[in-house]
Amino acid sequence: MSQPKTVQVELAGRGYDILVGSGLLKRAADYIVPKLASKKAIIVTDAHVGTIYGSQLKANLRTADITCEILTIPAGEGSKNFATFEWLMNQLLALKVDRKTTIIALGGGVVGDLAGFAASVLLRGVPFIQIPTSLLAQVDSSVGGKTAINASVGKNLIGSFYQPQLVLADSDVLKTLPPRELKAGYAEVIKYGLIMSPEFYEDCLSDGAKIIAGDEEAQQYAVLASCQFKAEIVKMDEREKDDLRALLNFGHTFGHALEAETGFSETLLHGEAVAIGMVMACRLSHRMGLIGADVETQLAAHFKALGMMAHPNDVKGQRWAVDAIASHFADDKKAEGGKLTFVVLNEIGRAVVAKNVDAALARDVVASYL
Ligand code: NAD
Ligand code: GLY
Repeated sequence: MSQPKTVQVELAGRGYDILVGSGLLKRAADYIVPKLASKKAIIVTDAHVGTIYGSQLKANLRTADITCEILTIPAGEGSKNFATFEWLMNQLLALKVDRKTTIIALGGGVVGDLAGFAASVLLRGVPFIQIPTSLLAQVDSSVGGKTAINASVGKNLIGSFYQPQLVLADSDVLKTLPPRELKAGYAEVIKYGLIMSPEFYEDCLSDGAKIIAGDEEAQQYAVLASCQFKAEIVKMDEREKDDLRALLNFGHTFGHALEAETGFSETLLHGEAVAIGMVMACRLSHRMGLIGADVETQLAAHFKALGMMAHPNDVKGQRWAVDAIASHFADDKKAEGGKLTFVVLNEIGRAVVAKNVDAALARDVVASYL
């Protein structure tokens, strides 16, 4: 058990550490207790993760005299809704939380986004710690303070920016993550290479198979590098005001549209939608004359070789309609004044926000797959 590596998210007054390593959950109290404002914490988790790790975390915190209750939500994207949010808030209030009670999110992005949103509005804000347990949550959702639930008209439309006080990314927990979830998380890993670093993109092409196969060293490297990339962006554009943080949404406008068409269900996981969406965004970038067609070909082939989805038709049992997909582009948070905004690539490792993208071109790109 080596010392964890640390990534600092530098934000004036709201900075925090992300610890990346193994054995962190087993020693969680060592890292968490110094951050607590009182001896009371509430663990929010989901039914899958809670069963595997909930009691272990609670028992570990108890050894440090921390009074700790566990609140468990159903697993899956469906829990990022008003009903679960309301249930969670009422449960938290019933546990007589005060402003010094820390909420600990133990789970994937669903738990982190929901619990983080709850922490941000409960009593006008209580302290919050993230223990991300999916690859996607370790490399993306637990870092940077975006919290949200979904509305019936779209994903992540109700939320806040609310930074955690600490993030513990333990590679041990990835051992129980289902392979499908691991692959979904990998999409967000390679995204950093595509948008920010040709070198990291190359690393992903060579090591992606190891990450998916559960190689701990490769996974820790991927998590550490991803958190460094994300921390760099968040430091410069915490609230997505300068077209910088928006780069993290590469592939997401297409991906969100596909997710919306599948009803945000198990049919298509968020990371799977992002993988397909990034392939489609490469084609859009090509059609805009920015990159060669070979970028899409290489990315899609890499995903295929790893057994990942790379094309809308890889989604089993789904019948797509071009206009239905395209109709979501204007709903996206990135749409401004009726013009379409997409993140596109100027080259591998250099993404830009393109405003005024022709809606007909975007529709055409969708149609070219179906
Ligand atoms: P998730 O939270 O649903 O987790 C995926 C599945 O894996 C769930 O069934 C969960 O119970 C299970 N699981 C998680 N960790 C496990 C483990 N260690 N062992 C066994 N099972 C485990 O989904 P996700 O992919 O982690 O996150 C997706 C969500 O994150 C989406 O709602 C997306 O919008 C959000 N997101 C947010 C941000 C952000 O910046 N806040 C960024 C990216 C994605
Ligand atoms: N995942 C996008 C962001 O954090 O901004």
